[in-house]
Amino acid sequence: MTRVGIVGAGNVAARHADVLSAFPDVAIAGIADTDPRRAEALASKHGSPAFGGHADLLSAGGLDAVYVCVPPFAHGNPELDALSCNLPIFVEKPLSLDLKTAESIASEIERRSLPSAVGHHWRYLDIVQQARDLLSGRPVRLALGHWLDKVPPVAWWLNPTMSGGQILEQAVHVLDLARLLVGEVSMVHVVPAENPVDGEVDRASAAVLRFSGGAAGLLATSCLLTHKHRVGLEVCADGIALELSETRLLVDGERSIEDDGQAKVRVDREFINAVQGKQAEVRVPYGEALRTHRLALALAKSAVERRPVTLDDDQ
Ligand SMILES: NC(=O)c1ccc[n+]([C@@H]2O[C@H](COP(=O)([O-])OP(=O)(O)OC[C@H]3O[C@@H](n4cnc5c(N)ncnc54)[C@H](O)[C@@H]3O)[C@@H](O)[C@H]2O)c1
Repeated sequence: MTRVGIVGAGNVAARHADVLSAFPDVAIAGIADTDPRRAEALASKHGSPAFGGHADLLSAGGLDAVYVCVPPFAHGNPELDALSCNLPIFVEKPLSLDLKTAESIASEIERRSLPSAVGHHWRYLDIVQQARDLLSGRPVRLALGHWLDKVPPVAWWLNPTMSGGQILEQAVHVLDLARLLVGEVSMVHVVPAENPVDGEVDRASAAVLRFSGGAAGLLATSCLLTHKHRVGLEVCADGIALELSETRLLVDGERSIEDDGQAKVRVDREFINAVQGKQAEVRVPYGEALRTHRLALALAKSAVERRPVTLDDDQ
């Protein structure tokens, strides 16, 4: 039995706990949250002990792996303390608010040669694999990303010093997909819309991206809406247009292929396989997510500084 500890007992932790509990070879060994009521609520659902913080969870011992499901501002110590106990980590995106924290975690994972994974579950969509097959031998020349949505119902989200803003917090999924389907990005320039409320995250922004391989890209984000309106990535290559959302691939605006809906299970299963030392296909280990994180941070910096940012700029 693989014994997993979870740090953070909010929305995404509840989802991972449900998926992990359904695996016959995994037990949830403990759940920690700085809000003890949240830890208790999720732990009691899964018949596991609750802890007031990650340090108590780690001190209780007996873990094989740790899931870090905290908001952007709380990354750093949970990961580094779990790694110091030699435990593999699964980390929810975004990796942190800055680059330094994520880089120090990445080097510690590498130094200890531990398995890791990040919650970029879009990479596990079966329609993403189909998109890659359709694009084989046809380089993408144009990418159009969207994240047009509502404000998520979590208290910390509108505060940029806690969430990092919509690009880092949400559109990072689309950026990760763009890196996979198009390639690395060398320059970004974000133009945020005038913000009605000072000190809150940008409610809308438009970005231009230049890919190292020569493709051009656009990314539009907004959290002005009351519903998830449009979230995904469109790409154009020679003679083909693909439109990917989290549930569907549309080929040339006509042929629609539904995803099998298993990505959120696969992302956990492959990590657990890696922890168990089995053959595993972890598509986004921490080091790979760090590249996407760098890109998202470059966009966030461009939005704040109102200027183009190249990816080798000091972030
Ligand atoms: N991959 C995905 O599809 C997906 C989906 C939802 C959320 N997320 C990501 O997961 C993260 C959490 O989102 P959420 O919706 O679960 O937020 P949430 O606010 O519902 O839950 C976060 C929990 O972490 C706790 N917490 C904060 N600091 C802590 C600390 N130092 N130690 C322990 N617990 C701490 C909070 O009390 C809270 O209960 C966000 O970064 C979000 O982007 C990813």
